[in-house]
Amino acid sequence: MLVFDSGVGSLSIGAEIHRLLPDLNLLYCMDRGGFPYGQWQEQALAEHICETILAQLNIHLCDMVVVACNSASTTVLPALRSQLTIPVVGVVPAIKPAANHSKTGVIGLLATPGTIARPYTDQLIQDFAAHCQVIKVGDPALAGAVEALFWQGEDNKAAWQRAAQAFADSEHFAALDTVVLACTHFPLVQKQLDTAMRALDKQVSWVDSGQAIARRVEHLLLQATSPRQLGVQGRQEAILLGVNDPSNRFANTLKARRIDLLSAG
Ligand code: DGL
Repeated sequence: MLVFDSGVGSLSIGAEIHRLLPDLNLLYCMDRGGFPYGQWQEQALAEHICETILAQLNIHLCDMVVVACNSASTTVLPALRSQLTIPVVGVVPAIKPAANHSKTGVIGLLATPGTIARPYTDQLIQDFAAHCQVIKVGDPALAGAVEALFWQGEDNKAAWQRAAQAFADSEHFAALDTVVLACTHFPLVQKQLDTAMRALDKQVSWVDSGQAIARRVEHLLLQATSPRQLGVQGRQEAILLGVNDPSNRFANTLKARRIDLLSAG
C-alpha cells in the first residue's frame, strides 16, 4: 500500500494504519521536492500528484493508495481515481467528527492555506458543520516547522504559538472547544500545539483523520479478494523524492519507527 504525502505527514497516517493493521506492507512516499503542497496552485498540484503517484506505481506494486495529505486529497481524488483501478483513500479534514464532538458549536480548522481555500473544504463545512461557527486558520509555515522538527530537531516554539494565537484572535475564541488538525503534519506536533493553547488558558479537544483512515483501509481490505497474512509483521519502507540524503536525525526517526529507507533522490 502506498502512503503518499509531501513529507512527514505520511508518518502520522501510516502509524495509525500500522497500529490497526500491522500485517500490511506500507510504502511511505514523501515528495519532499514538491513540498509545500499547501502553497501550490490547485490545478498544477493535481497534475503533479497524479504524475508522481503514477510513476511510483509503475515501479512499485501496490494494491491501494492512501493520499495522506489534506492539501492534496481536497483537489486530486477525482483525477487520480479516474486513472487508477486500485482503491484510492483520501485524507480530508475531520470536520464531521469535530462538529459532532463539540459541545459549544465553535470548532477550529487548522490547515494549510491551500486546504482552507478549497471549495471541497467549504462543502464539508456546509454538509457537516452548518450549525457550527468554524474558525479557519490557514498557516503557511506550520507544516514547514514540523518538517524542520523531524529533519533538524528544531523545536520552533514561535510556530506553535503563532498557530494558537491565530485562534485567540478570533471573536469566537472563548467558546472554542474542538480543533481539527487538517494537515497530516499537525498530529505529529499535537503536544506542542496543546502546550501553546494552554499558555493562552485554553483547553481544546484535538481531532484528526488518522484512525478513521485506518478503519477505512481495513474496511476496503475486508472486501478485497487477496488473502491477508494475519499474525505476520508487515514491511514498512520509505521513498524520499527530491532529497539526496536524509539527515541523521531523519534516518533515526525512520529507524525508530521500524521503517526502512528504500531510496532517496
Ligand atoms: N501534509 C499536508 C496536508 O495534509 C500538507 C503539507 C504541505 O503543505 O505540503 O495538508
